[in-house]
Amino acid sequence: MTEKFLWGSATAAYQCEGAWDADGKGPSIWDEFCHSEKNTTGITGDVSCDFFHHYQEDIRMMAEGGQNTYRFSISWSRIVPKADRVINEQGFEFYDNVLTECEKYGIVPNVTLVHYDLPDYVGAQGGWCWEGIADEFAYYAAAVFRHFGDRIPLYVTINEPTHNASCCYMVGNYPPNEKVNMQHFCHCAYNMVMCNAKAIREFRKLHLKSQIGLVHASCSAEALKATPEYLEAVENGDLFTNDWVLDPAIKGEIPQKLIDKVKASGIDLSFMKAEDRAVIAENTIDFLGQNAYSRLLVKPYHSGETCATVNNAGNNDGSGKAAKEGKTVKGWFESDTDPDVPLNPWGREIYPQCIYNTLIKRKQKYGDIPIYITENGHGAYDVADEQGYVADDGRIEFLSNFLEQILKAKAEGVNVKGYYVWSTMDLYSWINGYKKRYGLVRVDYDDPDLKRTPKKSYFWYKQFIEDHQDL
Ligand code: BG6
Repeated sequence: MTEKFLWGSATAAYQCEGAWDADGKGPSIWDEFCHSEKNTTGITGDVSCDFFHHYQEDIRMMAEGGQNTYRFSISWSRIVPKADRVINEQGFEFYDNVLTECEKYGIVPNVTLVHYDLPDYVGAQGGWCWEGIADEFAYYAAAVFRHFGDRIPLYVTINEPTHNASCCYMVGNYPPNEKVNMQHFCHCAYNMVMCNAKAIREFRKLHLKSQIGLVHASCSAEALKATPEYLEAVENGDLFTNDWVLDPAIKGEIPQKLIDKVKASGIDLSFMKAEDRAVIAENTIDFLGQNAYSRLLVKPYHSGETCATVNNAGNNDGSGKAAKEGKTVKGWFESDTDPDVPLNPWGREIYPQCIYNTLIKRKQKYGDIPIYITENGHGAYDVADEQGYVADDGRIEFLSNFLEQILKAKAEGVNVKGYYVWSTMDLYSWINGYKKRYGLVRVDYDDPDLKRTPKKSYFWYKQFIEDHQDL
């Protein structure tokens, strides 16, 4: 694998591919959700920006923008459409074509096996809480490793376990839309740890030159005060949001403190099997993908039931409501608010220092493990001019402020090896459809050809990459 610093951008299958039932693809839980009456907006990823038919243009634009890596995900239900486990060769063909296009431009693929979109047949059996999911995932993962082998130098098992579990079983805005179900939240989290370990076990059997990692969403917990109570809230925030996935993935063990605290919260941990310990211990990751969006700001738990909002406002709701995103976990911690830090229209703090603090903490705890910043992005209500051009100065400011913090951590010895803007082009936002834009390239959804127009940030990023060739 090339040792040069990787500069790129990222997407995920359901959010960009479209072609939801083309060429033998089976439905995913997101297809099922978006086609059901639970989807109150009626907005779906059925077509989205139709990467399935535009991948050549999109990858060419990455290359022209100076990018040398592309993070994307494989749709599990394109490869294994049904519960009978028969492999859909046409699914492989699509991703073979995508890889060929990347190779044409020397773009290094960084490929995630599952980015939220479980096959619907997995969802029907209990999804992330199904006791068979780790073996089912390992079966699919093994098929992918065998097919692509070293052609994919960087594999990622799961995208954002904690965030995904929280959206599915705490906030309830991702299928199966369960609100504040701590039992299922913990079960889901544990099963994700097992999915990661069992997929890595399959990967190691093949002795590939490629590396395998996991992508994590949350930054380290921080607090506005350093009293013993606040420091305890920080420790609890980290245990709940970071340690339960990073410790097993990197160190091969679930922290005993976490297990004790979860038990004390009344969770039945009978889903944890004694024989799983060795699987977790023997199958750790080669690199960490760390996403960079917002700060995890906590304060001591004060009162009230566990809930996934702050002050009963929304969570990830847009339209300028700017209700702070956060949660209360009874007996553990509560989200805090900092009046001095701006929020974006969806209630996320804009606080670039969080990624510096996180990278330093990751190094203190996990040493020199290679780290890729696998997503860093600014959601906005973009406004285009008549030519479809977006002068997205807010996005440029956001990304450059985060990059300053990332490069500072790298200069201080954190083993950062690459960086990906979220997202390559505009795509479907899970809860906010097509209003919330992240792309470096605008997609005109009103145009039958889904016209792509590079934004100001695309050109800014190209220049930034050019200016940092010495990394
Ligand atoms: C990340 C996900 O957590 O956040 C992406 O990996 C997602 O898939 C991104 O699109 C932005 O999320 P949202 O909810 O702001 O669209």
